Amino acid sequence: MKHFIAISDLTREEALSVLATAEHMADTQSRAIRKLPTLVGATVVNLFFEDSTRTRISFEAAAKRLSADVINFSAKGSSLSKGESLKDTALTLQAMGADAVVVRSGSSGAAHLLAHAGWIDQPIVNAGDGAHEHPTQAMLDAFTLRRHLRPGDPRAGLDGLHVVIVGDVLHSRVARSNVLLLTLLGARVTLVAPPALVPVGASAWPCAISYDLDAALADSPDAVMMLRVQRERMVGGGFFPTEGEYSRRYGLTVARAAALPEHAIVLHPGPMNRGFEIAGAVADSPRSVIVEQVASGVFVRMAVLYHLLATDAREAHREN
Ligand code: CP
Repeated sequence: MKHFIAISDLTREEALSVLATAEHMADTQSRAIRKLPTLVGATVVNLFFEDSTRTRISFEAAAKRLSADVINFSAKGSSLSKGESLKDTALTLQAMGADAVVVRSGSSGAAHLLAHAGWIDQPIVNAGDGAHEHPTQAMLDAFTLRRHLRPGDPRAGLDGLHVVIVGDVLHSRVARSNVLLLTLLGARVTLVAPPALVPVGASAWPCAISYDLDAALADSPDAVMMLRVQRERMVGGGFFPTEGEYSRRYGLTVARAAALPEHAIVLHPGPMNRGFEIAGAVADSPRSVIVEQVASGVFVRMAVLYHLLATDAREAHREN
């Protein structure tokens, strides 16, 4: 792998290989080996054009636990606010010695452009681009699912599992990446959303689509993944009758969660709208693995950086 841009670029073997490395990273952390020397001498730049809590901090933690240096660069307070282009920003980062660039952007395709425009040579990691993909989020979700539902075999896929993904699919890069990755790993996926929040073209995705949450939840899901309703991306008015109506029809209430199979787990990529798409009591219940997803994010991002940088970083360090 040269870059980590989209789940659609991965084979099943590559995805399983990253998950296996993430298990190894988790194992080192559980044995209190907080810092590995793997990326000594490497510099990872976090280039965030959009706000982030989990992704930015976990990439920073991941890089530091591999002994890389980290430069955090956010659009606010940078020359981007003076109109500097993505190309000139990229050239500046390269001149500063970046060995890899982790990029989040509101524009779909930004990470792909950075990787393939020929401006810089460094590996690019997509930390979320518009409504397109959020591949490391899907990897951490698969990692978390596997630990709960296929424990004991670090090479297992997710074959035969049923995952229901619910909510604002239209604006969700998490939904698209998860549909692609979970099905690549053998799971069956059902997307549930109001008709207005299903993207045009989703009928070609490798999953079922339903407008009826209760019907989907009656189909024995092993996991339910709730999506954040992205109000900030809904310009120009409402998309469903009322927020109360949305919660009533598509919210994961205490009653709905109680009716799930006993072993089923609940995920949410965060940040959550508690009491809207998910009841606070469900988010805090024993079924919820939402906090664990955040911890998984560090292991998965360590694995991604390892796969992209480990050899190059070791060679560069030896030359110095
Ligand atoms: N899940 C996720 O991408 O969260 P952040 O926006 O906080 O990074």
